[in-house]
Amino acid sequence: MKRRPIVGINLKIYINTMDKAVALAELVKERFKDVSDADIFFIPSMGTIYPVSKVLQNSNIIYGVQNIASIANGAMTGEFSIESAVDLGCTMVEIGHAERKRIFKEDYSMINEKVKLTLNNNMIPLVCIGESEPGDAREDSLKEQILKVLIDIPHHQLSNVVLAYEPEWAIGKDKPAETTYVHESHRMIREILSKAYGSDIKDAIRIIYGGSVKKENALDLSGHPDVDGLLIGRFGHDINNFEEIVNLVRKAKEEK
Ligand code: PGA
Repeated sequence: MKRRPIVGINLKIYINTMDKAVALAELVKERFKDVSDADIFFIPSMGTIYPVSKVLQNSNIIYGVQNIASIANGAMTGEFSIESAVDLGCTMVEIGHAERKRIFKEDYSMINEKVKLTLNNNMIPLVCIGESEPGDAREDSLKEQILKVLIDIPHHQLSNVVLAYEPEWAIGKDKPAETTYVHESHRMIREILSKAYGSDIKDAIRIIYGGSVKKENALDLSGHPDVDGLLIGRFGHDINNFEEIVNLVRKAKEEK
């Protein structure tokens, strides 16, 4: 089964003023306006989502938020509601990033609630998984995470999930995980999906790699049939780097 490549950026809280976020969103919109062979997504710093949404609505760029509350509305001071994401025209929600788990103590049941809310609002959940350190425990850790974050999701909704495989130890570093290690992990994830949900889901779910992706490693990382794209952090803040990485993913996928 051919899956549509998907590549994009999470700005975390690196670019937090409206002028800078809008300027980057404008460039993304312009540079990728003719791209039809891949999904491109842009996830700005939360405080800039409103002006960014104004730039990207009615474009081919998917935009979304870095987190939502685990309930749609109610008593959750300081959280961001999916109702606002809907209102802003977002179509993607990033869920369970390693930083949210580590710093804000998000647990799997919270993450699972967020995935369900996102799917029930017809948005794409970009669900982050990844082992905390390299080694033999990797497969068990990935299995536990996948089963817990996707528990009780109706079968027909599963194919809308995008998994971001981000080994926690490879985020924010100079170099990503070794290419062969990444490819092995993606194959493991597909096997886990196949055993848990069947081969239709294994074939349908898109899995992208994230963690210190840059233009120097993007082609190799995405050059495996089980890798459907990349999640970029720091090395995509420069639009030329971002564009180059997107084009390398497109190239890798065109050759396969
Ligand atoms: P990085 O971030 O590319 O800066 O390592 C990636 C991520 O956390 O998604």
